[in-house]
Amino acid sequence: MIIKNKQINLILAPLSEVTNISFRILCREHGADLAFLPFINVNALVMTDKITWGWIKDSEREHKPRAIQLFGSDAELFKKSAKIISENKLFDIIDINAACPASKILDEGAGGALLVEPYRLREIVRGVKDNFNGVVSVKIRLGLKRNSVSEIADAIGSIVDFATVHGRTVKQGYSGKSDWDAIFEAKKLFNCPIVGNGDICSINDYLGVKDKADAVMIGRAALKNPLLFNEIKSGRKSDDKKRATACLSWACKNEKSLRLLKRFCTCFVSGLTGSREMKERINRCKSVAETKLYVKKVIVSLQGK
Ligand SMILES: Cc1cc2nc3c(=O)[nH]c(=O)nc-3n(C[C@H](O)[C@H](O)[C@H](O)COP(=O)(O)O)c2cc1C
Repeated sequence: MIIKNKQINLILAPLSEVTNISFRILCREHGADLAFLPFINVNALVMTDKITWGWIKDSEREHKPRAIQLFGSDAELFKKSAKIISENKLFDIIDINAACPASKILDEGAGGALLVEPYRLREIVRGVKDNFNGVVSVKIRLGLKRNSVSEIADAIGSIVDFATVHGRTVKQGYSGKSDWDAIFEAKKLFNCPIVGNGDICSINDYLGVKDKADAVMIGRAALKNPLLFNEIKSGRKSDDKKRATACLSWACKNEKSLRLLKRFCTCFVSGLTGSREMKERINRCKSVAETKLYVKKVIVSLQGK
């Protein structure tokens, strides 16, 4: 699909507390055409919460077009957020989260809970569109407990600029498989491009689904292999050891938070011989310095092999 004159085929999924600015830049440098500042609470944005605004300001370093994902349940707060983003020219795309399955979020009437109230979701989308001079998208699942894509499409299919569909219901969480036939059906119901999402982990997975949607979004697999986007584009898988070496070196150079350093490094060693022991060892580290020291030893051993 084309957004802001740019061809968008491969998108890094929003992964809250993971896809920070440096990881988004890494993926975009390796072939992701778009990424999102994930899961920003409209209330926190409007109330000028310091941490939230730190993430927003950090995003100025990202490639264009720049995208933010908002969540909440109050249409007025969505409108105010859209206006602030528009007036300050902060992002080119606003994505509305109607997919999150976390019970805390559902209890607030936000995320996936919006799927059972398509006309409330429509009010939110309308409010964002009217107050934002840019592209407005929505991220949905197939429904809350059952497939209700047609009702959702009736409500918002003609007013959003694109919709991302994760091919599971909210109730499914991450169990089962993403239903790409249902994603293909959604393409016929929505009057806009559809981004398909769920369980794309390899070049072959991508080749099996690329004709079912207008673009493909990749989450968990990109966390293990941020080079996957370019692998898909070139049709060539990178060497596991070289990929792990490059990604671990990136983490040591860029990540300052112990939680994320461990998260990235444990993901990057996935699939290597001895990865279980490496993950256990990384998880036992008590500081950033200790983690980096160990990871640098892993890098040396990978280079020596
Ligand atoms: C750790 C984690 C955090 C996530 N955070 C978000 C989020 O902030 N917003 C969102 O729309 N989806 C979020 N998701 C869902 C992903 O964007 C994606 O829809 C899902 O992982 C399926 O795609 P995949 O199989 O390629 O991972 C999250 C998933 C994970 C595993």
